[in-house]
Amino acid sequence: MDDGGSRIRRRVSLPKRKRPSLGRIFVAPTAAELERGDEKEEEMVAENRRRKTAGLIPVEHNDSEEDMFGDYDSFTENSFIAEADDLEQKYMQLPEHQKHATDFATENLCSESIKNKLSVTPIGNLTELQTDKHTENQSGYEDVTDEPGADLLYDVPSSQAMYFENLQNASNDFGDQFMKERDGRSSSHNTVNEELPHNCIEQPQQNDESSSKVRTSSDINRRTSIKDHLKSTMTGNAKAQTPVFSRSKQLKETLLSEEINVAKKTIESSSNDLGPFYSLPSKVRDLYVQLKGIEKLYEWQHTCLTLKSVQERKNLIYSLPTSGGKTLVAEILMLQELLCSRKDVLMILPYVAIVQEKISGLSSFGIELGFFVEEYAGSKGRFPPTKRREKKSLYIATIEKGHSLVNSLIETGRIDSLGLVVVDELHMIGEGSRGAILEMTLAKILYTSKTTQIIGMSATLNNVEDLQKFLQAEYYTSQFRPVELKEYLKINDTIYEIDSKAENGITFSRFLNYKYSDTLKKMDPDHLVALVTEVIPNYSCLVFCPSKKNCENVAEMICKFLSKEYLKHKEKEKCEVINNLKNIGNGNLCPVLKRTIPFGVAYHHSGLTSDERKLLEEAYSTGVLCLFTCTSTLAAGVNLPARRVILRAPYVAMEFLKRNQYKQMIGRAGRAGIDTIGESILILQEKDKQQVLELITRPLENCYSHLVQEFTKGIQTLFLSLIGLKIATNLDDIYHFMNGTFFGVQQNILLKEKSLWEITVESLRYLTEKGLVQKDTIYKSEEEVQHNFHITKLGRASFKGTIDLAYCDILYRDLKKGLEGLVLESLLHLIYLTTPYDLVSQCNPDWMIYFRQFSQLSPAEQNVAAILGVSESFIGKKASGQAIRKKVDKDVVNRLYLSFVLYSLLKETSIWTVSEKFNMPRGYVQNLLTGAASFSSCVLHFCEELEEFWVYRALLVELTKKLTYCVKAELIPLMEVTGVLEGRAKQLYSAGYKSLMHLANANPEVLIRTIDHLSRRQAKQIVSSAKMLLHEKAEALQEEVEELLRLPSDFPGAVASATDEA
Ligand SMILES: Nc1ncnc2c1ncn2[C@@H]1O[C@H](COP(=O)(O)OP(=O)(O)OP(=O)(O)O)[C@@H](O)[C@H]1O
Ligand SMILES: [Mg+2]
Repeated sequence: MDDGGSRIRRRVSLPKRKRPSLGRIFVAPTAAELERGDEKEEEMVAENRRRKTAGLIPVEHNDSEEDMFGDYDSFTENSFIAEADDLEQKYMQLPEHQKHATDFATENLCSESIKNKLSVTPIGNLTELQTDKHTENQSGYEDVTDEPGADLLYDVPSSQAMYFENLQNASNDFGDQFMKERDGRSSSHNTVNEELPHNCIEQPQQNDESSSKVRTSSDINRRTSIKDHLKSTMTGNAKAQTPVFSRSKQLKETLLSEEINVAKKTIESSSNDLGPFYSLPSKVRDLYVQLKGIEKLYEWQHTCLTLKSVQERKNLIYSLPTSGGKTLVAEILMLQELLCSRKDVLMILPYVAIVQEKISGLSSFGIELGFFVEEYAGSKGRFPPTKRREKKSLYIATIEKGHSLVNSLIETGRIDSLGLVVVDELHMIGEGSRGAILEMTLAKILYTSKTTQIIGMSATLNNVEDLQKFLQAEYYTSQFRPVELKEYLKINDTIYEIDSKAENGITFSRFLNYKYSDTLKKMDPDHLVALVTEVIPNYSCLVFCPSKKNCENVAEMICKFLSKEYLKHKEKEKCEVINNLKNIGNGNLCPVLKRTIPFGVAYHHSGLTSDERKLLEEAYSTGVLCLFTCTSTLAAGVNLPARRVILRAPYVAMEFLKRNQYKQMIGRAGRAGIDTIGESILILQEKDKQQVLELITRPLENCYSHLVQEFTKGIQTLFLSLIGLKIATNLDDIYHFMNGTFFGVQQNILLKEKSLWEITVESLRYLTEKGLVQKDTIYKSEEEVQHNFHITKLGRASFKGTIDLAYCDILYRDLKKGLEGLVLESLLHLIYLTTPYDLVSQCNPDWMIYFRQFSQLSPAEQNVAAILGVSESFIGKKASGQAIRKKVDKDVVNRLYLSFVLYSLLKETSIWTVSEKFNMPRGYVQNLLTGAASFSSCVLHFCEELEEFWVYRALLVELTKKLTYCVKAELIPLMEVTGVLEGRAKQLYSAGYKSLMHLANANPEVLIRTIDHLSRRQAKQIVSSAKMLLHEKAEALQEEVEELLRLPSDFPGAVASATDEA
């Protein structure tokens, strides 16, 4: 720990990156300066408390699949591992030393193969898809609306008529059209290719042949000599540590030969076919074709990848419209880092579901190309991460887990092993506490590692300069979008096209062609049915609704007016979806989905369980479902594009739409490779017209740092970890650090009335007063005083447990009180202690249900309530609406209610039953459970640091397990595989796939045949994820074996004998 700390400090002192000028940075504050801000600080604390309470957003917090509590981490020291790393580093240094030269080196190693390929496959192939075809065919839907059929059902809008008329031909036509589109597309590729001036191999690494040859041979020589050097060094090392016992000697020899093998393999693997595809093996290109259907890079992707700044490994921000293909660029850069530079990579994504999607997508690459793909989301992720002997790791993490991972790497002195950090949806840095966490993560990397490259991407960035300054990054942008997006507004029955050239930003497009009955008019005043039936069922459609309830209502309303003909479309597949939903719900099926799915329609919001959501998403992606009514979270979540996106109103919940939100939602329109066009229609009322016109013309919103605004979850947490990790422990260094944050860049705009120095001093005082850190004043001379800080036990416990500092006092008090009389006759008391505090404030108990549950408590359980100070009479009075004079702690009452829900879940294990019993959406119940599982492990880590709470440790280990796997124990190993949720695990288990080994060895084709409703893509992803996990586990075990066999570095006599021999 100390060691790591000093290493960090050494690094920090290097003139790593240019920092903003620091003004008073090296001026230590006087004691008086530290005292002065007292009043201000109190105000600030009070203000922040107020802000905190006022800022609690109910429900919406759970709307996303945020990794709410998935941020526990543990930083167990492991000197064995550290030692192993040192050894490993020696071997790995070979390619690492050559990191910057890798492109040359690897290219040269296989120059022959490149030359061969040069003549056959010009890399110029890898380029843009021309978009001039956008106007070519406005696709079927406009034709469909031309003439309503005469035999139309009265209540069916005319837009459906054409569909039914053409039903016979429709699928054929669609097929033809699809083929035509595809053909057109591929011919366009060809044309582009022929015209392309570029050839990737001719890109920056290009050198004339002779020099290349010279480098090739010298490189090989160098490699050989390094190899020899390695061998001799290792032999020397081994000799130096000649153990006293012969058994140890034997072990050492075995180890040595093993190590030599590893070194050999490393050298061999780095000389594999590297180079042809952006310095990567041509296999990478084949994999993209095979697995993702990507045959050529868009021109911008090529340009971006060959930018000088990218070649020089400078930090980079790039911004392109939604669907622009940003991910591919990031992926290629990540692969370069893993395979060429041979360093680990961290990719930070905003949601658990997206992390899982990415894990599934990249596992096959990992298996084929020889690197690990590790999941850091929800309850998954190892801290500190396993040190790998040979292969590198790609960590795919949520914002919270990414932060914990970086902390852990800093603590163990391994941050330099991280070669690249990629942040998707970089604009999220401006969003609440998650933004603050992202900012802390990046600021820590910038401060502690001068070799880690940072790349951020987003579709919705405005004030890029601020971000550039913060990340010291270059910027690349382009307006490219492979599928043109046409934006429309609908007011009454008129559709306008958004046209930046027009005077008020819109031009008339058409009148909506529909025939509505009076009933339909009343039920569907916004003409949603007419709009969706212009595209479904052959094309997909998303309808964004302001609230969850509204999603369900709109789905039902639409289905009520859809003709029976819609039932016939993919009838069998839809039946399967319903059956599968029933399976995963233990026979339960949401009545709304039961009515809508037969029409190909479903709602999509956080009220669904993750199992249900996954199943519905898969059905939508494969075209079985053609319409989702959804909340805005879908826009930021998984990749579910549509031909047409409809915004039912310019509102998200009660708030008027923001430009960024609007862009994200409409950005889902148009699938690359499938649609020739995407369209969005925003429905609005006359009264909102002015505001909407402004919305469509104004620039995207700026993003601002939340580091200071988020106080306990922001700057406080940051300072505690800076001190805890020994990144910066005195006032000057902490101030220095603050200067390099995003907040530091924007401080003049965000908090004019205070200087950064004052903010730093005040925050440190707050932490000191809370007993989380302690100040040591060092008098360097009569005038010079230095304030150093060290973390207290409570501070360390809060930091290790990643407890929101707003709750660390109360958690401490609750646990302390628990020691006086913990009721262990039932789990209720313990569950209460691990019920997350921040969910409590959002909870509104149903008092009747509360009362019913209360009256069913056993005497022991009643005793728990009594100890907590919640009486049956209070709940009874609440249930009957009586006035209550006695003052009761509302937070305790609400927390107990949530504990009832969790307690009930542990007893019944069915989310459905519990959600019915408590009248809560099942998605919410599931979130509560995941939240409690994570918080329970946070509390465990909190207790581990405080001796007085030793008694809780064993109890919490068990409780965390119970909460994490609230399913049958036999399903747990299967559910460890990314993408295998409870429902799927049950299916696999009953089909005989009972362990990870079973899954890793499964044949995807057999899986498809034996498991209901499993697509080929899913089957392949499950098998590759399982393989990857098995690999990882095996490697970790091997690692452990080696550690066990290794002679401890502090072995008595080892140093002496080494010196003797020298
Ligand atoms: N060169 C290419 N050729 C064909 N398809 C591509 C290419 N590059 C990317 N795609 C496909 O385009 C789709 C959108 O790409 P991607 O998800 O990277 O977009 P994005 O820019 O990240 O958009 P968003 O801002 O919405 O996240 C994906 O399905 C991806 O596979
Ligand atoms: Mg993206």
